[in-house]
Amino acid sequence: RREKMTANLKLRHQVTKAIRDYLNQADFIDVETPYLTKSTPEGARDFLVPSRVFKNQFYALPQSPQMLKQLLMGAGLERYYQIVRCFRDEDLRGDRQPEFTQVDLEMSFVSEEDVRNLVEGMLKAVVKASKGIELTEAFPIISYAQAMRRFGSDKPDTRIGMELHDVSSVFAQSGFKLFSSAANTEGQFVKAINVKGAGTWPRSQVDKLAEVAAGFGAKGLAWVAFKEDGSVGGPITKFFSPEELETLRAEMSAEPKDLILFAVGGRLETDEILGGMRLHMARVLEVPREGHDFLWVVNFPLFHWDEETQSYASEHMPFTQPNEDQIDLLDTDPLSIGSHTYDFVMDGFEAGGGGMRIHNADLQLRILEKLGFTKERAEAQFGFLMEALTYGAPPMGGFALGLDRVCMLLAGADSIRDVMAFPKTTSGSDLMSAAPSPVTDDQLKEVSLRTL
Ligand code: AMO
Repeated sequence: RREKMTANLKLRHQVTKAIRDYLNQADFIDVETPYLTKSTPEGARDFLVPSRVFKNQFYALPQSPQMLKQLLMGAGLERYYQIVRCFRDEDLRGDRQPEFTQVDLEMSFVSEEDVRNLVEGMLKAVVKASKGIELTEAFPIISYAQAMRRFGSDKPDTRIGMELHDVSSVFAQSGFKLFSSAANTEGQFVKAINVKGAGTWPRSQVDKLAEVAAGFGAKGLAWVAFKEDGSVGGPITKFFSPEELETLRAEMSAEPKDLILFAVGGRLETDEILGGMRLHMARVLEVPREGHDFLWVVNFPLFHWDEETQSYASEHMPFTQPNEDQIDLLDTDPLSIGSHTYDFVMDGFEAGGGGMRIHNADLQLRILEKLGFTKERAEAQFGFLMEALTYGAPPMGGFALGLDRVCMLLAGADSIRDVMAFPKTTSGSDLMSAAPSPVTDDQLKEVSLRTL
């Protein structure tokens, strides 16, 4: 009965209506796919459903209809969409629920740009229908590498400034050994952000930031404050020459009252520390975030190295098309291969993602093998998809929009729970119906299960 909740549900309805109208008009066909299905490869844990008829066997609820939509393309459907529930058993937070809704779509005989343009048109129609705002500019497109280098995040909120700068060269000759040795070591960097206004903070307050930085993996936090009286403060300034401080000031466009925070280390390490600090400082200083921020982040790496499993893992998912001119690097330098992938980032949230797919069975098998699958295991898990590819599949690509996240941002809500009817708590329970809950022994017996 709360007015805000009613308004949010109405907004969600306007959004889904605009999406359906747009896609229907663009000749998309709405196809439903099963919920009782086989494990899918989106990287989260599956929700399992025991089968009564097939003893000791389980269905998995879909993490997304990824493989099914690729099969529909192989079947000649050309343009598919579905507003569909997806299920992922993962740790929950404000923008994650165990069941959530995707606007899932796939297209045949298209380029990466075709899919992005189509989706961008859809998103503009959504903003028009739900907020009355006509977006005329094209969404900016930046590469994953640029996003990480400039913002320390693959889902940057570009409204809050504070871009990361590589200041290694400033300190190449420095008497401050921590900086100069990083600056002179291959693969090591000194990077910095300029926090406007925090240069007036007392030293004790700035020193406390080291604890925050430790949460992002930093071993310490070096800083320099440009004071109102033109002097420069901070425990490490004594190591710097006036020329170094002047070059730093120019490089960081520092003005009086600015605080420069540094991170030292490898590329990813420094990007992640400063990416985290950037968001923290924006929150603490309540940096205004006006309007909405729309962005495409493209060309994600095909793989990353998974420390836990000591193997390559897909950055997006295993059916992603690698950049054609880099396929040769599969055996020599797989981590440097880029891919035809694109995330839609809205207000600093990953609000959607997609890519072009592999449509060649041999290449698909090579990628799965690189991911550590034996031929037999690949056959067992993805055999039906790979067989379909051998019959000839069109070049295809698609996208899935996180409907809950987009509605949350359009509604100005803090959590996707606020735009869902009957959401679950962060521990995954439904307070109203008290699910999950025990079932009777008879029910368990029927599916040949016993509880511990
Ligand atoms: P991906 O896994 O990136 O891609 O999911 C697409 C979008 O779904 C949203 N999302 C979630 N929203 C709420 N709660 C969750 N637990 C949750 N998990 C994901 C995000 C995300 O960007 N099959 C591919 C898409 C494709 O390649 O076409 C896929 O599922 O907004």
